[in-house]
Amino acid sequence: MSQTARSNDSNSDMHQDRPQVNDLAGRVAIVTGGTSGIGAATVRELVGHGARVMIVGIDDAAGAKLATDLGAAARYHHADVGRAGDVAAMVAATEDAFGRLDVLINNAGMGNFGETPDLDEGQWQRVIDVNLSSVFHACKHAIPRLRRQGGGAIVNVASVSGMAADYGFTAYAASKGAVINYTRALALDHARDGIRVNAVCPGLIDTPLTAGTLSMPALRQTWCENIPLQRAGRPEEVARLIRFLVSDDASYITGAIIPVDGGLIAWSGQPNLPKLLKPA
Ligand SMILES: NC(=O)c1ccc[n+]([C@@H]2O[C@H](COP(=O)([O-])OP(=O)(O)OC[C@H]3O[C@@H](n4cnc5c(N)ncnc54)[C@H](O)[C@@H]3O)[C@@H](O)[C@H]2O)c1
Repeated sequence: MSQTARSNDSNSDMHQDRPQVNDLAGRVAIVTGGTSGIGAATVRELVGHGARVMIVGIDDAAGAKLATDLGAAARYHHADVGRAGDVAAMVAATEDAFGRLDVLINNAGMGNFGETPDLDEGQWQRVIDVNLSSVFHACKHAIPRLRRQGGGAIVNVASVSGMAADYGFTAYAASKGAVINYTRALALDHARDGIRVNAVCPGLIDTPLTAGTLSMPALRQTWCENIPLQRAGRPEEVARLIRFLVSDDASYITGAIIPVDGGLIAWSGQPNLPKLLKPA
C-alpha cells in the first residue's frame, strides 16, 4: 500500500472509537431512505448522538430490522417518497410517534442511467418524483411544524452529479442539480424561521446503489484513480457531515452545498500533467 493510501485510510478510521456525545438529545429526526447505505449510516449516527429517528423507506424488512437493533430511539415507517400522499403521512406519523419534529434528512434517491433519446417520459418522471419532488413534499409538510417549534434543520442529500454533470446520467443530474438550487431557495425563505437548510453532495460512496459497478475490479480502479483521495467513501463519512450540519455546532451554516467526495469535484477533469510528463 502506498504512503498516501495508508494515511488516507488512517485519517478516515480515526473517528471510529471516539466517545459518544449526546448533543442531539431531545431532537426528533426523519431520515428518508434510511434502510440502507448513507441513510442507514445517518440513522445510526443521529441515534448515537441522542436523537430519536423515524426511519423511512420502502424496504420494510431492512427498516424493521434497523429499528429493532436501535431500540426505543428508532421506528420504521413505510413510505414511497415518490408519492405525495406517502410523504405527508410520513411527517404526520413522525409527530404522532415522537411528539415533535426537529430534523429532516431528505436522503432517499434512485440512480438512473441513460442518454436522453433512450429515456421514456415515465423513467424521467420517476427520477424527478423520487429525487426532487420528494424534497418539495417533505419540506412542505415539515416546515410548518419546525416553524411552530421555533426552528430546525434540513439536510438534502444531492450529489456531485448535481454540481457538475456525468456522462449518461441525464435525469439523475437534472434532479440533483435542482435539489441543490432548491436547497439555496429554502435556506433563504426560512432563515428567519430559525430553519437551516443545507445540501451534502456525495461523490463515489460504497453503498448498495454503487455496489454493482464497484464489483467490477477494473471499473472500480479507474473510478478511484480519478478521485484525489484514491478510494470510494464510506456511508459513515457522509453521515458524520450530515450529523454535524443538523447539530448546534453548525448554527451559522445555511444554504451551503458541501461535497463529501474525496476531492473529486475539486478536479476540472483536465489531465494530470505532472504525472504524464514525469520521465518513466
Ligand atoms: N452512493 C453514492 O455514490 C452516491 C453518490 C451521490 C449521491 N448519492 C445519493 O445518496 C442518497 C442515498 O443513496 P445510497 O448511496 O445510500 O444508496 P442506497 O440505495 O443504499 O439508498 C437509497 C435508499 O433510498 C430508498 N429509496 C429508493 N427509492 C425510494 C422511494 N421511492 N421511497 C422511499 N425510499 C426509497 C432505498 O430503499 C434505499 O434505502 C441518494 O439520494 C443518492 O442519490 C449516493
